Amino acid sequence: MPTHTADRRSPLSRVDGPEELRRRCDRIRAAGQSLGLVPTMGALHAGHRRLIQRSRAECDRTVVSIFVNPIQFGPGEDLNLYPRSLDADLAVCAELGVDLAYAPSEAAMYPEGFATRVNLRGALVETLEGARRPGHFEGVATVVTKLLVTARPDRAYFGHKDAQQCAVVRRLAADLNTGAEIVVCPTVRDADGLALSSRNARLDPAGRRQALAIPAALAAADAAFRLGERDAEAIRDVVLRRLAESPALDVDYVAVVDALTFLPITKMHVRCEILIAARMGGVRLIDVLTPGTDEGLVVGVGE
Ligand code: PAF
Repeated sequence: MPTHTADRRSPLSRVDGPEELRRRCDRIRAAGQSLGLVPTMGALHAGHRRLIQRSRAECDRTVVSIFVNPIQFGPGEDLNLYPRSLDADLAVCAELGVDLAYAPSEAAMYPEGFATRVNLRGALVETLEGARRPGHFEGVATVVTKLLVTARPDRAYFGHKDAQQCAVVRRLAADLNTGAEIVVCPTVRDADGLALSSRNARLDPAGRRQALAIPAALAAADAAFRLGERDAEAIRDVVLRRLAESPALDVDYVAVVDALTFLPITKMHVRCEILIAARMGGVRLIDVLTPGTDEGLVVGVGE
């Protein structure tokens, strides 16, 4: 728990380069304070707010990184369309009492000559998002590793919506002995149930209505699980049937997997997750549910 002090609300400092970030974070640790890191690509929404608030509650100091990481986008993906709103993001950080906002340029993050990539092996990075988005997890792993080794936080906070990313980051943080605890926070949803994502802004009202089949399908699966269904294929069928009610939704995959390995399972167990990826118009949406848990599908907690 943080040792709250009178200077707790010192104003937000913006940091643009890795050396300065390292210096500032070293100083925090030298003062005996704990540090939380919230990695983001900006366009901060209520889901990010929740991560920041959790870090503020659990750590003495919080650093938020804001960087649209080009190397985690494949050719033809939405890098150029990805929303960018640095001034508004810095205002959110200031409002929430963040200590450091790390907003490096692309040249500061990947200077000329940069030649390192962090790669994991196995099903965790080869299935589902890994199979559909070649190079995506390599890009995520590389930037997150850079953030972890530069800031050296005690804890780093990620949203459960990106469940496979969470598993990848947990794996690399442990494998590389970063010493950072990876904290996965429940998905935050809008009042209509849609999981918050910076990409939702690109859905038109009709597309958004169709997209609501995603949380509805997860809710149907959760209900089946709570009624005792333990056959993973039967749960998958429940999800697929509900998604089929929204014909404009182009379903990429529905998977029931072990939450640590991301291998498909046949019988539901305590560590399993139901994953959906689908496209609505040009917008790719993903969602996840751990059935039977308190996280459930709590709605109406977004902005
Ligand atoms: O989840 C995201 O916003 C990004 O993948 C992350 C973790 C900030 C790395 O760029």
